[in-house]
Amino acid sequence: MCGIFGYTGKKEAMDILTNGLAQLEYRGYDSAGICMVNDDHNLYIIKAVGRVMELKNKTNWIKLTWYTTGIGHTRWATHGSVTENNCHPHTSSDARFAVVHNGIIENHSELKMILEDQGYVFYSETDTEVVVKLFEYLFNGDNLRALRKLTSVIEWAYALVFIDREKPSMLFGAKLGSPLVIGKNKENAWYVSSDYKSLIGLVDEYITLEDGDIFCIENGECKIINRWVEFIRDKEHIIETEQIMELWDFPHFMLKEIYEQGQVLRNVFAGRIDFKTKTINNITLNEVVTQGFERVHIIASGTSYHAGCLGRQYLENLANLPTEVSVSTEFKYGTQFIDKKTLYIFVSQSGETADSLESMKVVKEKWGYTFGIINVPGSSIARLAHAWLFTHAGTEVWVASSKAFTAQIATFLILALAFGQKRNLENTKFISILTDMEKLPARIEKLLQTSDQIRLIAEKYAPYLNFFYLGRSYELPIAMEGSLKLKELTYRHSEAYSSGELKHGPLALIDANFPSIIVNGSWPLYSKNLSSVQEIKSRGGKVIGVIADNDVNKNLYDDFLIFESSLRETEVFSETVILQLFAYHMADVLGRDIDKPRNLAKSVTVE
Ligand code: G6P
Repeated sequence: MCGIFGYTGKKEAMDILTNGLAQLEYRGYDSAGICMVNDDHNLYIIKAVGRVMELKNKTNWIKLTWYTTGIGHTRWATHGSVTENNCHPHTSSDARFAVVHNGIIENHSELKMILEDQGYVFYSETDTEVVVKLFEYLFNGDNLRALRKLTSVIEWAYALVFIDREKPSMLFGAKLGSPLVIGKNKENAWYVSSDYKSLIGLVDEYITLEDGDIFCIENGECKIINRWVEFIRDKEHIIETEQIMELWDFPHFMLKEIYEQGQVLRNVFAGRIDFKTKTINNITLNEVVTQGFERVHIIASGTSYHAGCLGRQYLENLANLPTEVSVSTEFKYGTQFIDKKTLYIFVSQSGETADSLESMKVVKEKWGYTFGIINVPGSSIARLAHAWLFTHAGTEVWVASSKAFTAQIATFLILALAFGQKRNLENTKFISILTDMEKLPARIEKLLQTSDQIRLIAEKYAPYLNFFYLGRSYELPIAMEGSLKLKELTYRHSEAYSSGELKHGPLALIDANFPSIIVNGSWPLYSKNLSSVQEIKSRGGKVIGVIADNDVNKNLYDDFLIFESSLRETEVFSETVILQLFAYHMADVLGRDIDKPRNLAKSVTVE
């Protein structure tokens, strides 16, 4: 979702801005633009619909001098279609100020009417143009004063960064809801970005802005008001030198991230499970399992919601903890029954998903205990939660999620086992699961070697337009996630159902052109799933089985994708990887833009 990148220093800003925007591409966007200011008080704007590469192509022939301050933006359209007119940065009527914005100004229509009454004319359909025109209206010579007035009028959410033609070494802005970080290097160059990872290699230190912060960088100094503290005193983090955006030999980030999952599992287990002594030990886990919670409520969106659905199965089956799961997009607007005996778990890869963040605030306001399962320490959800577990998946560059899901479900398994130990989980079961978990990373790595076989099946089914993904119990969330991967990557229609529900309606759609993928490992509902397979077959439908290597009914399926049989709790990891590869290969066969699927954003920072 929209990305912001700003720079002020001694170098030409144009390449710095376009390279910065390229680092934010993973967030998802449909157009991009930059605006720079030079010492002669000129503003220079370049915009392009499509990829940052198209923006870069436009800049190739432009030679600028002394444009050493600027702002850039990748836009994911919310207000107004994908056109250069709607693309940021947006400018004031007198072209003195330019702004980039991430978020949604909810009261922009009212504000626009007021400004129109004052004679302002709008060239775009965006809420952001309203912001810069309102700023112009409120401006009386003092940028920060106008910014304070502006932020008292506009209704969130926003991360805003402005430049001023008359003050060519100034970047200023505000944050409420949407993320924004400011970084600085030893040469006293300053950067502003939606994501600290885009600053790796550019800055030596950075600060994450808090909601309500207003900042102003001018002549090499940064002031953050609201709390009126100097940046230097406030600096928080030393940037790691980790190189994250390398594809190595992989054709797509998605494939690379799928292949990282063995190592991701090792990272999730490290420091929490001692496989030698067969114990779980971790300070955060110890604290959360000893607080006497009697119920769990998991809240998340997208892939993280699917991880929560499997988390529920683990917590109920292994820890005997009644668990509810809500999509965060619905939770905030329903009636919430918050109590002290419930553990509220928020699952989020980015830690910035607005719906999850807002839901968390609601729970906290009502004194509920919030717990994050997150992949980005320092993210908004991590900062707001009472406690959190880090999923150690590493940065996910690809828009749709893969390794983050695996890390989330592994974290849920550990959490459920830790709770189980405190409650009534049999020790033999506990030990057998831990014993099997130790083998899991190597098992996943072995499974990845069957990628070519999965590709053959994906090729065969690529011409089909509709798919059912079926499973039950532990395997239903895996089917749901597999179906989401297919939608996101191939733009094929797919629906996930409990295989038991098939006969209550969806079966009417089955014919020879509507294949079903059934996730059917070697566990309790195996025979029930076989009945569903028979129901589909007898209506002329094709069935692809995601099945264990010891399955004796392989020839019931039109095609099958095989994994090594193990425990019910761990087979789901293998099934996940198979469905990720199936979606990946089909998308590749269909020539889709795998790492940047159309219309999608990695980090959804608007409600
Ligand atoms: C977006 C992404 C999904 C992700 C969802 C929730 O829609 O495209 O991949 O699952 O947001 O994101 P979160 O960061 O909260 O896990």
